[in-house]
Amino acid sequence: TGAFTYDPGFTSTASCQSKLTYIDGDEGVLLHRGYAIGELAEKSSFMEVAHLLLNGELPTKEELDTFTWTITRHTMVHEQLATFFRGFRRDAHPMAIMCGVVGALSAFYHDSTDIHDPQQRTIASHRLIAKMPTLAAMAFKYSLGQPFLYPDNSLSYTGNFLRMTFGVPAEPYEVNPIVEQAMDRIFILHADHEQNASTSTVRLAGSSGANPFACIAAGIACLWGPAHGGANEAALNMLREIGTPDRIPEFIARAKDKNDPFRLMGFGHRVYKNYDPRATVMQQTVREVLSALNVKDPVFDVALQLEEMALNDPYFVEKKLFPNVDFYSGVILSAIGFPTSMFTVLFALARTVGWVAQWNEMITDPDQKIGRPRQLYNGPTQRPYVPVGER
Ligand code: CMC
Repeated sequence: TGAFTYDPGFTSTASCQSKLTYIDGDEGVLLHRGYAIGELAEKSSFMEVAHLLLNGELPTKEELDTFTWTITRHTMVHEQLATFFRGFRRDAHPMAIMCGVVGALSAFYHDSTDIHDPQQRTIASHRLIAKMPTLAAMAFKYSLGQPFLYPDNSLSYTGNFLRMTFGVPAEPYEVNPIVEQAMDRIFILHADHEQNASTSTVRLAGSSGANPFACIAAGIACLWGPAHGGANEAALNMLREIGTPDRIPEFIARAKDKNDPFRLMGFGHRVYKNYDPRATVMQQTVREVLSALNVKDPVFDVALQLEEMALNDPYFVEKKLFPNVDFYSGVILSAIGFPTSMFTVLFALARTVGWVAQWNEMITDPDQKIGRPRQLYNGPTQRPYVPVGER
């Protein structure tokens, strides 16, 4: 391979050092700053996890109050952004809108784009975490033709998001505590996942000195792909298409057929060669939410039976393909009332915490350099130019 190591897809290249997230893919372990994801999902809140990822430690009660207050102060977006939204077609995919509006934040918040100023970096980080729910809810409201709702800072981070999404100005909105807790847990499960494609994209964009809003917009664009964050939307669409358990074998056969591009969405992972610990929590949360909301969704039975059948199939066993975080999340999100097109937006909202924490870690890393992979050139050798009339 000449002077460089050839490593397509970076399967064996560590691009950075990080203290944020540890994954043992063989054992199915995921730790944030040393804390197991299952324990965080069960016992903590998204704001606690955001503090943990950003600042290195779980907050004391007082620190949590201060952090939450600080985030809350930034939940409103510049009024002019509403005009920007109105430039999009009503049927625009909300991820297309998010790519645009988050990138556009750099044009609205000039006082937090200097990456060399630690205070500006902190403000930009808080702004991004605080404004994502507002922007995500606006993208949803725009598709419905309903008015945008301003944030209500008396609610929790997640409660506020639910109200801006599902509330209308004409009526009071009661946040359902079970939905709020489930949503908060889903946010925790998506908060960070070390050097996945979108996080690597954020770091790569940031390595050139680009401002944080532009970097997070780059991450959102990368997340959209169906092999990454778009898998939650694709997984639910697939489960709905399967429809009834008797059709599962047909889809399993397709997933195994190398001449068919179809894959089981929500299955397999670059790093996990065991059950994704996030999927375990997600499956449990589906049960809780469906029973609390009294929703009977046949798609959950399809998912459970598909999982069982796949896990007993030699193809999936040999290739160590297990359900990942995206396999069950769609069932919950759909029960809460989100259309599939919003699923990846919710992933982006939560992952913003990880992106921002990783971006800050990179900027302050003394080893940081512009990301610049090399290549193995395999095109033509040098040849003389032939004028167009003689070709
Ligand atoms: N269904 C059927 N076969 C699969 C699947 C699947 N879901 N995933 C992997 N394989 C096969 C693949 O065809 C390949 O077979 P072979 O060795 O015979 O060519 C082998 O397993 C290894 O797959 P790979 O594509 O080389 O592995 P990768 O590490 O490059 O890809 C992945 C990982 C997540 C992109 C892939 O498993 C996939 O496409 N899964 C479906 C999409 C999905 O659920 N993505 C969400 C990932 S978790 C959340 C996130 O990151 O956003």
